Amino acid sequence: MSKSRGQWGSKVGFILAASGSAIGLGNIVFFSANAYKFGGGAFYLPYLIALFVIGIPVMILEFGLGHQTRRAFPESMHKAAGKPGEFVGWWALMNACFIVFYYITILGWVLGMLIGAFGQLWQETTPLKGFAMDELANPHGYFFSMLSSWKPMIFVAIVWILNAILVRRGVATIEAAVKVFVPLMWIFMIVLIVRGITLENGFQGVWLLFTPNFEVMKDAAVWQGAFSQIFFTLSLGFGVMTAYASYLPKDSDQTSNALLTSLMNCGFEYIAGLAIFSILFAFAMVPAASTLSMMFFIVPTGISQMPGGDPMVMAFGLLFFLLLLLAGLSSSVSLVEGLASSLIDKFRISRAKAVGLFCIFGFVGSAMFTLPQVVNPGLENDGTLGLTLLDLVDHWAFSYGLLIVGLLECLLIGWAFGAKRLRAGVNSSSRFNLGSWYDWLIKLIIPALILYVLIVGIKGEFAGLYGSDYGPNYKDGFSWMVNSPQFILVGWFVLTVGASLIFTLRGKYSEGSQ
Ligand code: PFF
Repeated sequence: MSKSRGQWGSKVGFILAASGSAIGLGNIVFFSANAYKFGGGAFYLPYLIALFVIGIPVMILEFGLGHQTRRAFPESMHKAAGKPGEFVGWWALMNACFIVFYYITILGWVLGMLIGAFGQLWQETTPLKGFAMDELANPHGYFFSMLSSWKPMIFVAIVWILNAILVRRGVATIEAAVKVFVPLMWIFMIVLIVRGITLENGFQGVWLLFTPNFEVMKDAAVWQGAFSQIFFTLSLGFGVMTAYASYLPKDSDQTSNALLTSLMNCGFEYIAGLAIFSILFAFAMVPAASTLSMMFFIVPTGISQMPGGDPMVMAFGLLFFLLLLLAGLSSSVSLVEGLASSLIDKFRISRAKAVGLFCIFGFVGSAMFTLPQVVNPGLENDGTLGLTLLDLVDHWAFSYGLLIVGLLECLLIGWAFGAKRLRAGVNSSSRFNLGSWYDWLIKLIIPALILYVLIVGIKGEFAGLYGSDYGPNYKDGFSWMVNSPQFILVGWFVLTVGASLIFTLRGKYSEGSQ
């Protein structure tokens, strides 16, 4: 079981792995889409405040917990706060499970687009029935016809296999992979931003991203968006950072690790925002708020209009999708590692078995989001059902799951384990000492802020449950999945809470657990 948990080979290896987990699709497209949705400059101030007031302190908490207990998230939380803590730990992982299902489906689609970028993606395609927008740009046609074939099932299987290979041997393989992936991601991103801002009018996009709008900041939805984005982008509330930190040597400095990881992540996010906004503005496109359309239609349409002819279009298309794939893979492996190490810790199964079982299960989960199109490609009906399903699951797991875990972990560590105790452990091996202000952040301020946005969000759901307008668009086949938005909400809640209860109550941790 835990006798050979493994250890990061170097501090650099750990930082690359943690920042590789943090830097992902969230940075490249979700941030820009969210920023646009909330009016560009209206978003980045709440986002920056969320980074310093919530993101960095919670990352110190998650790193500190893993480093002090040297266990994955559920057992760490068990050691810190008993059974209730363990339940929260498993619940975080159950949300992570849903998120990794669709995250890998998206990566499968990215792989399909990467292959298309060799040529097919840019060719004329006949507009697909029922999809008027198709006539506007080629990427729509390519994307939807790919989705209506069996290919995405194969692409999704390939991405799961890649994850299994990277995680099967433990952190040593992950470390070797991120040493290549992360520097490449930075290089690709820098090339993209240089291209973006040197395009005619490209620089105007930068102004939109950076012009603050204080009016919109009164809207609680902006804050909920910023808080969820901070949790997601920093990979917090998933148990992943705790699992990664559990493989650190005893004397490592968690405060500087958390600062470095967070700042690298958010730096990358801003650079990505600049690149995406400049491309969009250069070609006078309206960046749709939907993250998926940003990734699969809008940016590719911008790339297809780049000067320099076919070779340039192809080169930047390949660069963009390869960047998404590398960034996504270094994130998805951390999710798989967080889940596999939790199963290994609790059920004392071998790593190969935990990883193998989870990846097969995960493939079935990911198929949920791409199979409906294959079975019924009629676009008026189930053709976009997988996308809608993905949107609904994302809504609950991303906008609520992460924040609820964040709230509960702060309360349990703050009050049951003791923020002071956690801080003493962190300070004992850190160059920069955290003061008692940190305790109050964890015990009171962060929970109060999260609770506020959650309450406002839930009140909004009562006024009109998210997804209520989807149902009427779907009529047959798999439509029962989204016809009632309550179905997804109750399904997500019952499945995640039920499975967490089962995992908490079954089996026992060995020595040293409470
Ligand atoms: N932080 C990743 C992103 O921004 O795309 C997503 C993610 C990866 C979330 C790993 C959670 C996680 F454990």
